[in-house]
Amino acid sequence: MIGPLGAMGSNDRHDETIGLRIPKWELPLSRDGVVLDIGAGGRIRVRPIRATDRAALIETFARLSPTSRHRRFFSQMNELPEIWAEKLTSIDHSLHRAWVVFDADAEAEPGGSPEQGVAIARLVSQAEDPTTAELALAIVDDHQGRGIGRALMDLLLSTAAINDIDVIRADTLRENKAMIHLLRSRGAVAVVDRSDGAVVSYDLRVPNVDETTGALYDLIRRAP
Ligand SMILES: CC(C)(COP(=O)(O)OP(=O)(O)OC[C@H]1O[C@@H](n2cnc3c(N)ncnc32)[C@H](O)[C@@H]1OP(=O)(O)O)[C@@H](O)C(=O)NCCC(=O)NCCS
Repeated sequence: MIGPLGAMGSNDRHDETIGLRIPKWELPLSRDGVVLDIGAGGRIRVRPIRATDRAALIETFARLSPTSRHRRFFSQMNELPEIWAEKLTSIDHSLHRAWVVFDADAEAEPGGSPEQGVAIARLVSQAEDPTTAELALAIVDDHQGRGIGRALMDLLLSTAAINDIDVIRADTLRENKAMIHLLRSRGAVAVVDRSDGAVVSYDLRVPNVDETTGALYDLIRRAP
């Protein structure tokens, strides 16, 4: 059965290990996802994205600042085009996995806000190389600095580990200090870093993790 998160696993996929700091989740498991206590940042609820989240994704994008939109998509968009929203929600959950995040504390308040996304995290592999996945993270500005990025990074790492992904690649703007800090803190190294370029590519070798942690994504999708 599912245990507490954060313990390192026993399989030896890679020699190096890092201490993942994924918080404990609250049971029972349901398709609504799980609530994670992220310490001083409060509680978040996470679940795999659904095709029916398309309109909500467009609405969540609208709550990102222009700077955050640019840091996530490397282009200036006033709104997320329908076709992109479809592509980002109608996913196969195999080569393309995505978590959507809600503010569990706000939801718990009397008259709390309806299901309103505060962050998205995704891993996308190509069929020709399913052992490498590209990472993308976006946290709505009002919720940045709460530790959500940190928790999601560890959730992605454990999800990658259980799904035989060896390397997570992240392209980030050189000026994106928070993202670069997050990547480096997990051991990522810059692999393409041209001094004249605005974008730096980082590779992160996926460490050993507790298998039950990584299985969380598929467990939620199968939950009643
Ligand atoms: C970058 C981003 C994902 C970080 O998520 P977050 O929830 O705000 O970050 P957290 O609160 O979890 O903090 C993560 C770490 O970054 C550090 N950090 C935050 N802002 C920082 C800054 N300006 N410079 C350096 N480090 C910073 C935090 O101190 C923390 O470090 P720690 O783990 O050692 O304590 C988020 O700000 C975001 O979505 N930005 C817009 C979109 C984007 O940049 N996406 C990334 C491109 S793929």
